[in-house]
Amino acid sequence: MAAPSPLLSALMLVVLATAALAAAGGVNKRSGSSRKAKDLNNKVDIKLYTRLYSENGQKLDAYNDTFLEKSKFNPLVPTKILVHGWLSGETKSKGGAILKDALLEISDYNVILVDWSQADSINYLGSRWLVSTLGELIGDLIGQLYMSGGIDFSDLHLIGHSLGAHAMGFAGRTAGLGKHGRITALDPAGPLFWNDPAVRLDKSDAGFVDVIHTCAPVLGYWDPIGHVDFYPNGGTWVQPGCGLDAVPVGTCSHCRGYSLLLESMETPGAFVGTSCTGWDDYKAGVCAGNATAELGLGLDRRARGSFYFETNAEPPYSKLPGATASARLNSTKNFGRLSNAALHALNIPPAAGMYLISLTLIVWVSG
Ligand SMILES: *[C@@H]1O[C@H](CO)[C@@H](O)[C@H](O)[C@H]1NC(C)=O
Ligand SMILES: *[C@@H]1O[C@H](CO)[C@@H](O)[C@H](O)[C@H]1NC(C)=O
Ligand SMILES: *[C@@H]1O[C@H](CO)[C@@H](O)[C@H](O)[C@H]1NC(C)=O
Repeated sequence: MAAPSPLLSALMLVVLATAALAAAGGVNKRSGSSRKAKDLNNKVDIKLYTRLYSENGQKLDAYNDTFLEKSKFNPLVPTKILVHGWLSGETKSKGGAILKDALLEISDYNVILVDWSQADSINYLGSRWLVSTLGELIGDLIGQLYMSGGIDFSDLHLIGHSLGAHAMGFAGRTAGLGKHGRITALDPAGPLFWNDPAVRLDKSDAGFVDVIHTCAPVLGYWDPIGHVDFYPNGGTWVQPGCGLDAVPVGTCSHCRGYSLLLESMETPGAFVGTSCTGWDDYKAGVCAGNATAELGLGLDRRARGSFYFETNAEPPYSKLPGATASARLNSTKNFGRLSNAALHALNIPPAAGMYLISLTLIVWVSG
């Protein structure tokens, strides 16, 4: 990493001081579930979807199991919990909703969507410091599914995008998944996450953690932090088909994991990665013949390492001969690209300020 300029350093200092103040707000007070998590609960919408309720879903509440008891939750089928990331353009709930539909076509799961968009804001710093509290809330929900719902932790699969990926790490820790369950991380956020397992997603958070890196080291996290780490097209900004991916920086690449996971459900064997020492080595063919791992629900839990593969720039992203793109997959193509209407909806002055600070961080972090 190159040394940041004095101006950037000063900005960083201000940013980090603000962040530290924000974080210091509520580290104490912890009795079972923290008050912060219960407060956040008012702004979080949790919905259960099953084959019987695949359209509107049924409300759940992490701190009131009456809803679970009255719902169609079925402890005999596996449970998938999905959580979105920071802003992520229009994908907040759409990405989750699309994966939910695809999942329920494959099998009869309990699919739970956690929508925290009411608590999320253009202020990346504010949202970033919500991650541990959000994770705690989801961890408490998992506790409820265990105590009142009767789930088996080994049937539990948490899927999180961006900040949501790190939140799932905290959820796994809070619920005490230990060697059970699985976390799939779609481009875990990079800015303001550092190499300390205590502050981010880590492979110790669940029995099996797989990560799909698509926008490192800009919006996404660069280092391998799972049991398996996939690096499609090298895992970096810009992913093919994302153009310059400049407004807002990297969001198209950042959201690509939704499309790849979806396509892997629709086309078995769509993405098979090869274990390698890096993208350049992979491209040079140095790693041909190494171990492989298949991205998606069926990923072998015994796989370990960093896996590389190439994709097309358009749906179908899979290079498998004869691969086709469904309308659903095509609808994910513009994930992360802000429409003009969305740009207008962000109130511009503070947005521009926060965006500049985020950009500064990004430039600084990526050296
Ligand atoms: C839980 O929710 C039910 C249904 O809305 C409500 O009747 C009950 O009072 C709630 N319990 C608590 C402890 O808030
Ligand atoms: C893959 O293959 C290369 C070349 O044969 C080797 O150097 C490397 O250690 C292998 N394994 C991994 C995990 O990259
Ligand atoms: C999806 O988009 C591709 C082009 O990227 C197109 O060839 C294909 O027909 C589309 N599929 C559907 C079902 O619309």
